[in-house]
Formats: sequence, C-alpha cells, structure tokens
Amino acid sequence: MENNKNIGHRIIHLPVVDSTNNYLTMLFNNGDINHGCVIMADKQTRGRGQRDNNWESEEEKNIILSLCIEPIKFSVLNQFDISCFTSLSIISFLKEIGISASIKWPNDIMVNDKKIAGILIENQLLGKNIKFSNIGIGINVNQLNFSNLNATSLSKELNLNRNLKSDKSLIIKHLNINYNTFFYNHNELRKEYLKYLYQYQIIAKYKSNKGFFLGEITGVSEWGKLQVKVDNSIIEFDNKEIEFI
Ligand code: BTN
Repeated sequence: MENNKNIGHRIIHLPVVDSTNNYLTMLFNNGDINHGCVIMADKQTRGRGQRDNNWESEEEKNIILSLCIEPIKFSVLNQFDISCFTSLSIISFLKEIGISASIKWPNDIMVNDKKIAGILIENQLLGKNIKFSNIGIGINVNQLNFSNLNATSLSKELNLNRNLKSDKSLIIKHLNINYNTFFYNHNELRKEYLKYLYQYQIIAKYKSNKGFFLGEITGVSEWGKLQVKVDNSIIEFDNKEIEFI
C-alpha cells in the first residue's frame, strides 16, 4: 500500500468513458493505479448517481472525476467520514471561488436550494477495513441548462463562464488540503461537517414511510445516520428512509 502520494499525483484524462467510477474500479482491480490517482473525463455515456440514478452532464462543461483512496487501517465503521471529507473538499473549493454552499445529507452539495455537485462513493473492503474507496465527484461548472430545475452550476451562480481547466486543478488542491487536515481526524471532520449541514437545527418538513412530518435535524450518528428530533425524541434515518420536502 502506498499512501504517501498526493491526491492527483497521477491524473488520467479521458475524452469519453461510460463512468469514471467504473473505469477507476477496473484499473484498481487490475493493479494499475494506487492511492491518489484521479480519472477525469470530458463526457460519460453512463454517468451514475446515487440511488441508481443517472448523472447527466453536458460534454466538456463540468468536472467529472473519480479519485482512488487507499486508507490506512480505516474501519468500515468510519465510512461516513469519507463522505464528510469529500463534501467538505467541495465546500472549500466553492468557498475559494466565492460560492457559499451547504451539504444536504448525506452528500449533495447545495447552493440556495439547488444542487451544484453530487458524490458517489463506492468502497471495497478487506475484513473490517476499507481497502479502496472510489470517490466519484460531479460538479456543474459551465452547464447552463438542466432538465432538473433543481440544479445549478458555478457559471449560473457567478454569472460568468469559468475556466474548466483551472477549476479542475483547484478541486484537486482542495481534496489534498482536506485529506491532509481531516481524513483521519474524525472529531474535527464531524464538527466541520455540521457547520455546513443543510437545514441543521431548523424545523422543516420531511417524509418517511409513515408519511409527512415536521422535524429538526440535530446531527449525524457515528454510522452516518441522520438524527432528527420529532416530537421531542431523536429518530435516526438511513439514506433511503427519509426524504427532504
Ligand atoms: C449523485 O448526486 O447522485 C451522485 C453523482 C455522482 C456523479 C459523479 S460524476 C463522476 C463519477 N462517475 C460517475 O459515474 N458518477 C460520479
């Protein structure tokens, strides 16, 4: 295991691929890449999102990347920390270019109630530890039209066309900074995550399998479950068990 390498020490750029996450896993399984390696693409033909959704992204407009992380002695029990690290890296990248964003649990990055970036993390385990984490990141940069009205991009927010190449370097810079600061620092990571959590400590409407209800997000459990105060008791929800209304 080589973990002394910087994130982005090797960047493989592809004009077109089905999904950078698929490609990264294939290379990792073949032993062709190691910790810190990044795959970027101009276009994906089968970009994948969470919950089996597709990830649509116009060609050469946006950041499409997957990052290989080989954590050292990293328990699967801490896997939500990988999501925190990734979300916070995107948040600090956006902050540097003047966009203030929040993290809609578990890992959508939002600007004024619109989604600007998405994350798809796929882990391979070795016993109780994570051997390989495949971190897929899609950030909308210069795309202006979205079939989903609830989406936005850097250029829409800033009202100018962005230099995609510089933004690609900038996100790598922030992944590096955040990796070095937070990746193994569970408490700090969680504290920072809560600072940017969407609807944190706000009473809002949600939906579960029991129907609509009003609740207040109070935190995220060790395992990454969303903690919501409903009628004075705290209920923990898994990814598919709660919907934001
Ligand atoms: C989501 O919000 O649903 C997650 C979207 C993740 C999209 C990225 S783009 C790069 C990487 N390759 C994929 O196929 N998906 C992720």
